[in-house]
Parts: sequence; structure tokens; C-alpha cells
Amino acid sequence: MLTGNELAEVSHGRSDATREWLAKAAEYVPKGVAVVNEVFVAEAKGAVVRTLDGNTYLDCFAGVGVLNGGHCPQPVVEAIQAQAGQYLHTFFHQVPHRPYVELSEKLSKLAPGDFRKKAAFFNSGSEAVENAVKIARIATRRAAVICFTNAYHGRTLLTASLTCKVKPYKAGFGQSAPGVHRAATAYCYRCPWQSTYPGCGMHCLEQFKGFFKGEVEPSEVAAMVIEPVHGEGGIVVPPREFLPGLQAICREHGITFVADEVQTGFYRTGKPFAVSHSGVAPDLIACAKSIAAGLPLSAVVGKAEIMDAPAPGQLGGTFSGNPVACAAGVAALDFYRAQDFKARAMRISQYVMGRLEALQARLPGIGNLRALGAMIGVEFVKDPRTKEPDPDSVKRITRECFDRGLIVLAAGTFDNVIRLLMPLVITDAQMAQAMDIFEAACVKVLA
Ligand SMILES: Cc1ncc(COP(=O)(O)O)c(C=O)c1O
Repeated sequence: MLTGNELAEVSHGRSDATREWLAKAAEYVPKGVAVVNEVFVAEAKGAVVRTLDGNTYLDCFAGVGVLNGGHCPQPVVEAIQAQAGQYLHTFFHQVPHRPYVELSEKLSKLAPGDFRKKAAFFNSGSEAVENAVKIARIATRRAAVICFTNAYHGRTLLTASLTCKVKPYKAGFGQSAPGVHRAATAYCYRCPWQSTYPGCGMHCLEQFKGFFKGEVEPSEVAAMVIEPVHGEGGIVVPPREFLPGLQAICREHGITFVADEVQTGFYRTGKPFAVSHSGVAPDLIACAKSIAAGLPLSAVVGKAEIMDAPAPGQLGGTFSGNPVACAAGVAALDFYRAQDFKARAMRISQYVMGRLEALQARLPGIGNLRALGAMIGVEFVKDPRTKEPDPDSVKRITRECFDRGLIVLAAGTFDNVIRLLMPLVITDAQMAQAMDIFEAACVKVLA
């Protein structure tokens, strides 16, 4: 049994069992469900994954931000077991259950904003974003939606339409949803106005003067949807003024301000929600991923009067707010608070950024480093002057990392960013080893 304190060790070759499962996957799982690493998990705990081959890997992508509390946090596992022994499913609308209401209360209290809030549950991040837009549309009686470059909001028709990456999310899947309007995000390293922050005049906010003349009439816009830090889009961290500026624009025009905190939420950035770094309390927040420490659950939480705009029956779904997932969510939120994840995320950020800055000084191929708490991005370029994206090196570095026992994930519109999203329970020794491996992989590929 893993304790969660193990270090990475990849001394075993591929086992017969792994070979058999890979062959079975190739036979029965469609190609569209990509498999990047040819291993199968045997068990996982904390920041450690052990494979069927007997190798141990450090998980520094946290199942794409789902495992801020690490693999299998004990109080959450116990809550799941206890709930599974009572009832697995009822369909909340016909037979309400306490875990749903308990989690609604907890989430409403956790979300920023000095106003009355309510929360509704769904199954995935995409569903949460879709429902946030539906709620905003019915509350405002408007249809249009504003989204941003570098955005990722999911894979359903509407959320893929809001997403700003053609391959693999949009190409070949036909028409996008109507009513979607895209503005430029605040991506200072690649500022579309070639300005330098600070002192740039915040063209990213000024753009809306022209946007509302040339792109969409603001009184027809139901919602503006933005990730406080773009995750899949390359860990793009906006300047502090950006989100408050957007919120002011929304207020001026009666637009619902929706923060997609699916990846940034639940202490990833050092606060329960990333918007709090810039003092913003959105009208609605879409959350998922770490909300239930690994069980599929998502939510929309926000202003009670907006959340109450849909009439009875207009929100929900068969599995929405499953009792086992909600019980896991209740235990997860208690666990995160007890672990002092705010401090832990900041400590991870400080250590990892220190190591990365030293590495950047040696390797010009590391063009830009970005972090908000423990949401960290390393952008690779062929030449720091031209900033030409270098996705090939990212592919090779992520492979090198994996071969040495570290799992990291690529990101970015040009696939030239590596994102580090280690579970916040990672130990100091594991973090040091993770950075040793990352450094060695970067040096091998870039030096
Ligand atoms: C910011 C953001 N929004 C929405 C989603 C979609 O979530 P899901 O994959 O659970 O549908 C993701 C997933 O990565 C995300 O990062």
C-alpha cells in the first residue's frame, strides 16, 4: 500500500499485464480517447501514482487539477464509503437528500461576495459552464455571450464554441453555437497591442469600447465568461486590474460576470477561488474538478437572485448532485480547510518558481514563467526575441519527464507551455525531486 510519501522510481520495464491492458484498450477504446502514456495505474496516494509495472511516478498535473487534495485523501474516502452504504442515487428533484443541501450551503459560504448565494450541482466542468450561461440568459433575457482568446471551457457544443483552440476541440465537429463573441485576453507576454505592463494603458480593457461598436451590442449580452487564469490556454495570468475592469464593464451594461473557476478553484492559486486575488466577486462561478477530490461533480454558485431566475424544473439532470459525489464534496472542502492549503499553495509557488527562474537563466528556450499560487506555467520558445512557440521541445520534455518518473501536462494554444499543477499535499522531498527531474529533462532537450 502506498503511503503517499514515496519518491519517483522507474526501474521496471513494461510488464505483461500492462501489455495486455494496452492491447485491450486499443481493441475496444476509440482512438479519439487519446492515451498519451503507455501505463496503467495500480494505486495512487497523495502525489504518487504506482503503475501495474511497479514503477512510481510523481503526479504534477493532479489529474488536470482535480486532485488539489492529492489522490485518495482519507477523510474523503471514508465519507464516500459511508455514503455508499446508505444510498447511491435518488434523483434529487423527487427524493431530496442532505449531502446536496449541505454542499450548497458550504459552497455558497465559501464563494466570494457579500451577498446571498445559492449553488446547483451538475456532473462536469462543461456542464457547469453551460448552465451558468443558461442561468445568465434567463436572468437577463438576453442571448449573446462574450468569451476570450486562450479560453478553455469544455467539449460540449456551447463550451467548445467558447473555447479558443481549434485542434483537437473544434476542428471537424461542424458549426459552433451561435451568439458567441470573442475578445482578446490579457496575455502580457504576447500582448496583441505590443504593449508592456505596467504602464500599458490596459488596451485589453479599452478594447471593449470598439468591441461594443464593431462586434456586439452590449445590451444584448447575457454573460461574459472568463477563467481568472487560463489553464488549458497556457496558464495565462492577467494583471491584477483586468478582472475588476471586466466586472466594471459588465456592471455598466447589465452583463452577468461569470468566472470559470473549474481549474483555478479550491485553493489551487492559494485562495478558495482565484478571483479573490483581484478582489472580484463574480455574479456566477462555475466550479468542478477539485470540488469532490476526484468524483465527478460540478457546480454553479452565485447571486441568489440570478440563481433563482430559472423556474422549477429548468435546472438539473438525472445524475446532477449525486449523493456520493456531494458527500465527497462536503468532506473535501473540510479537508482543504484543515490542511491550510492557502499557505501550502504559496510555499509550492515560491519554491517551484525559484527553481524555474534559475533554470530560465540557463536556458533561453524558456521564454516566460507565470504563476498564481500553485498554478504554474512554463512557456517554451524557439527564440526569446521572436517568441516563436516551440511545441516540439514541450513534447520531448514531457516525454523525458515521464521516462524519469514525473507526469506533467502540455498546454497553450500552440501547445508550447508545460503546466505544473502538483497536488497541494506534495511533500517537500517530492517537490525537490520533481524539480530535479524537470530541470534534467529541460537541460537534456534544450541545452
Ligand atoms: C477552465 C475549465 N473550464 C471547463 C472545463 C471543462 O471541464 P470538464 O472536462 O469537466 O467538462 C475545464 C477542463 O479542463 C477547464 O479547465
